[in-house]
Amino acid sequence: MTETLGTNPLRQAEIQGRLDGLLQEVQEAGKRQVGYPTNQDFDYSAVLPFLEHSLNNVRDPFHASNYWSNTHAFEREVINRFAGLLRIDPAEAWGYVTSGGTEGNMYGLYLARELFPNAMFYFSEETHYSVLKNVRVLNARHIMIRRQDNGEIDYDDLRDMIRVNRGLPAVIMVNVGTTMRGAVDNIPRIREILTDLAITSSYIHADAALSGTILPFVDDPQPYGFDAGIDSVSVSGHKMIGAPLPCGVVLTKRPYVERVGRAIEYVGVEDTTLSGSRSAFAPLLLWHAMARLGDAGFRRLVAGALETAEYAVGQFNERGIPAWRHRNSVTVVFPRPAPEVFRKWQMAPEAEITHIITMPHVTHEMVDELVDDCAS
Ligand SMILES: Cc1ncc(COP(=O)(O)O)c(C=O)c1O
Repeated sequence: MTETLGTNPLRQAEIQGRLDGLLQEVQEAGKRQVGYPTNQDFDYSAVLPFLEHSLNNVRDPFHASNYWSNTHAFEREVINRFAGLLRIDPAEAWGYVTSGGTEGNMYGLYLARELFPNAMFYFSEETHYSVLKNVRVLNARHIMIRRQDNGEIDYDDLRDMIRVNRGLPAVIMVNVGTTMRGAVDNIPRIREILTDLAITSSYIHADAALSGTILPFVDDPQPYGFDAGIDSVSVSGHKMIGAPLPCGVVLTKRPYVERVGRAIEYVGVEDTTLSGSRSAFAPLLLWHAMARLGDAGFRRLVAGALETAEYAVGQFNERGIPAWRHRNSVTVVFPRPAPEVFRKWQMAPEAEITHIITMPHVTHEMVDELVDDCAS
């Protein structure tokens, strides 16, 4: 390794000192991380040698690439595996590994806008803030729908708004696990509304950032997949699965992309993904987690996290704190505690509530300590 770095050289010992300091901070922060859905419990040491190569998954993972140092073959396996989990025949599915949930949502909404350029976009006020940004970037006309107290979209408000705009194609962004309350919108009910109102052109994109890797592994999931009537879905990879860097998967129906792809080919560019150069390391991480855990491993992981969530609700309730959670959700919602609690624990408040998300690294001991802090 060289002795200096750039034009403002630091000595080797200083460089190491800075890195050691940061590592310690990161390790300490991880111990207090109970409020964000990022599993800290993983081991990717097997794929570390790939960090010594300049890999790039530029372009469509299902097309041959001129850049040979890629992991497209592994990326395709990840996509096929997610297709099974999200209930679409892999032969009919298309997707790619994204930089995270936001890019996946952007892709789904972009596809919808390409298919229905004059559509009205609908999403609930409970939706992750990135979606409002996405529709603004796309310059798509949109209406924010009220939410119910439990975090689900208000179906009556949705029906009213679609009725008012019946002449327009409807693009609906449904939540499969909202950020704050873990609520799952009722997709069959939304399909029913579209049928009742005789809306012939519609598209449903699902934001399944967290629950897209929970519901496939429980016995009685709420409807969440392509079999329930969605047209595309975004799932985060660094949430339930856990990863050292943000990543995700977007999945849709192959004919949609082919229709949009043809238009792009017309101008001489075969470019189906949002970003050009893409991480080749992220698909490897997801592939490794899936290969190592298998279905049985994921079921155990999810069952453990759900058990901790149930334990947390019980502990809070025993101390008189009205915590609650949705069925099949690891998001435990409770009244916003005193500011000192937020100085000790990494959690996200929203108005008068906050939540913990019992990812696999969250132990009963952490829950006990947090409950004590909230109750005192
Ligand atoms: C429901 C939901 N959608 C989208 C996102 C955005 O995901 P990312 O931060 O991976 O872009 C999040 C992030 O927490 C989320 O909770």
